[in-house]
Amino acid sequence: MSWWKPAVLYEVYVRSFADSDGDGIGDLSGIVARLDHLRGGPDSLAIDAIWLTPIHPSPLADMGYDVADYRAVDPVLGDLATFDRLVAACHDRGIRVLMDLVVCHTSVQHPWFAVAQSSRSDPHRDWYIWADPAHDGGAPNGWLAAFGGSAWSFDEATDQYYLHTFYPEQPDLNWRNPQVAAAIGDVVRFWRSRGVDGFRVEAFNVALKDESLRENPPPAGPASLPYGHRQYPLWNTDRPEVIEAAHTLRRAVRKGEPDPLLLGETYVPMERLGGYLGNRPGEAFDLVFDFEFLYAGWDADRLRFVVDRAEGLLPAHGWPCRALSSNDNPRHATRFGERALRAAAVLLLTLRGTPVLYMGEEIGMSDVLPPPGVSFDRAGRDACRSPMQWADEPGGGFTTGTPWLPLGDTHRINVSDQRADSASLLSLYRRLIAERHGSRARRRGPAEPRYAAGERRLRLSPRGGGR
Ligand code: BGC
Repeated sequence: MSWWKPAVLYEVYVRSFADSDGDGIGDLSGIVARLDHLRGGPDSLAIDAIWLTPIHPSPLADMGYDVADYRAVDPVLGDLATFDRLVAACHDRGIRVLMDLVVCHTSVQHPWFAVAQSSRSDPHRDWYIWADPAHDGGAPNGWLAAFGGSAWSFDEATDQYYLHTFYPEQPDLNWRNPQVAAAIGDVVRFWRSRGVDGFRVEAFNVALKDESLRENPPPAGPASLPYGHRQYPLWNTDRPEVIEAAHTLRRAVRKGEPDPLLLGETYVPMERLGGYLGNRPGEAFDLVFDFEFLYAGWDADRLRFVVDRAEGLLPAHGWPCRALSSNDNPRHATRFGERALRAAAVLLLTLRGTPVLYMGEEIGMSDVLPPPGVSFDRAGRDACRSPMQWADEPGGGFTTGTPWLPLGDTHRINVSDQRADSASLLSLYRRLIAERHGSRARRRGPAEPRYAAGERRLRLSPRGGGR
């Protein structure tokens, strides 16, 4: 059985986990110092793998998801030697290490883009997506960027527009060019040779767009996922060719080594998710996040509906992968309320599939709004990225300096107090993970839903037990 099927994954938002040098920003040495919490220490959570948000040099237009150098570590976070130390320390404890692989775009400051932008005839030009202005001189079409505004920015020097699905500082890579997949394969092998066990691949559903740049239709009613509100992204999201690109990515990262885990971030409805898993194991992604679960809200019928959909629609070799919180969404403590947290933990950690915890959810951390005037993320996601609350002390055990984002109420919620309390949420997470590791059924499934008496008529999947 693949190691990641019975595993519990844990997302570390690197800049907010633990600061080792007092600059107020979390770093790689800080993570090393706090590994006891994750696995191998007294009363640790005993998670199986960490996923690190991007650690590369970046101008931080999208907090690291705008990579300026794929083969280096941002000096604020550490260096390659520290990274090696982190991987070794994790492996010593039985923790696998996953990195974020940002493949949809680079930073405008990446050398690939600098040369692509330098002239229309540069060999790298086609690594990105360029188009002539429309007849009126405006953007080539009306596609919108994920965070608002046109998805096109004009490059005066070469008189063409470049495409960016996210911020203008994040030009989209052209996945129709095989050299792009080859270059990303090289990046993967670079980190694999340093011991990395897998990758969470960002935004892959938008990796390919319609070649003839057809216009998107208007929104198709209320969207079930956070896209399609302003226009229906028919021609620039989840194109059929992207599935072939997922196969290409898998082939590009292969090459003689045991395969790394590829966990895809693919914001598509469950009907479309299976394609990203390929026709058989190991052909494309191994796992893809079920975002319908994350967006279901704290509503039993809705949750049951999306769990049944996943069970019914994933291919036979598919395996669900679920999270309740992440670096991109309000925390579930904020969305559901604190009273829901124990039941939410039981749900997440007892369903069939691979759960992904988001740093701090194990103690019930809520969103922390930055004070007026403080903003790092233009899309308003700072609040769910506040620093980890380790202890009730100045700096919250996170830093000896001033935290880059404000801390939550560390007096009320912190790791240290909850570790000492067998009735705490942290203790519940720990027990649930231990129970999961100890139960063959829990680790492997299969799953058969049980319904409370009287709920039978609401059963939504033919596979439900209905008892
Ligand atoms: C990240 C987001 C980011 C987006 C675009 C996602 O994978 O989680 O924080 O804004 O990619 O790069």
